[in-house]
Amino acid sequence: MALLEVKDLKVHFPIHGGILGRVVGYVKAVDGVSFSIEPGQTIGLVGESGSGKSTIGKSILGLTHITAGTIRFDGKDITKSVRKNRSPYRKSVQMIFQDVYSSLNPRKRVLDIVAEPLRNFEKLSKTEERKRVDELLSIVGMTPDNASKYPFEFSGGQRQRIGVARAIALKPKLIVCDEPVSALDLSVQAQVLNHLKDIQQELKMAYLFISHDLGVVKHMCEHLAIMHHARFVEYGTRKDIYENATHIYTKRLIAAIPDIDPNKRKDNARNRAEINALYEKELPDYYRDGHGVYDLRPISDTHQVAML
Ligand SMILES: Nc1ncnc2c1ncn2[C@@H]1O[C@H](COP(=O)(O)OP(=O)(O)OP(=O)(O)O)[C@@H](O)[C@H]1O
Ligand SMILES: [Mg+2]
Repeated sequence: MALLEVKDLKVHFPIHGGILGRVVGYVKAVDGVSFSIEPGQTIGLVGESGSGKSTIGKSILGLTHITAGTIRFDGKDITKSVRKNRSPYRKSVQMIFQDVYSSLNPRKRVLDIVAEPLRNFEKLSKTEERKRVDELLSIVGMTPDNASKYPFEFSGGQRQRIGVARAIALKPKLIVCDEPVSALDLSVQAQVLNHLKDIQQELKMAYLFISHDLGVVKHMCEHLAIMHHARFVEYGTRKDIYENATHIYTKRLIAAIPDIDPNKRKDNARNRAEINALYEKELPDYYRDGHGVYDLRPISDTHQVAML
């Protein structure tokens, strides 16, 4: 049985206008998205800025309203109860937030930040709590003396580790990792990614791994969903996406992955120009009226593409 099953999820935000502030339209942030995650699996969610990735993550965490669709967890429909605090579901699903600089409360010490979920869900004595926080810090490669410091005393990479320690405190079954490394230097990115992978093995958690960069998620994800204009344009295994990208938008994302080999740069630039020309030409096959994303269609047992 799938751990998480999302069916036909829609999240629309009202746009208010005029002096009366009436609803004059909607931003369709997510507009009909379905996927499921098996226990221990990592699914990548990739797309450009504004395509709706964080909104999917937030709706799974109950941090935004849901316009339509259902979310099932461990076989139970939790769509209506997802926003209830302190439910067993909220203990099983955690999030690592996109912005390392605003997601940690600047007035709280690391000890209080990491212990917060423990205080919400588990009644521990002060000594037990301190022991657990020290263990969590050591899992993310930090020493116990960091517990008494404040977030401003840390670098971006270290802050992200504190966010990871908080997210794993309750041994959740699923973590939504929202661009966990995009604010970090390239050299630190690999470190944090490797760490996330190791912790996943150890605690047997599933990840929904959000990124705008196909290069970053390549070694993390067994399956990938490519998102554009609030919908999935392609879904498949790592091999389907990286070796047999079919949707014109996915092809463009792949062509945009930077190559570190300077000898290949010229080829890459040519390849990118070709893909961009193809994008204009093939647009009608992949988008209704140049914008609307078609429903996904299977092209193999594992691979689905949204096209005419
Ligand atoms: N609370 C909100 N009210 C109104 N519009 C919103 C709200 N949250 C998100 N949106 C809009 O929904 C769309 C999708 O936003 P979302 O944050 O999910 O994108 P994203 O794919 O995570 O982008 P990024 O890569 O920049 O983080 C955007 O057009 C955004 O402006
Ligand atoms: Mg986002």
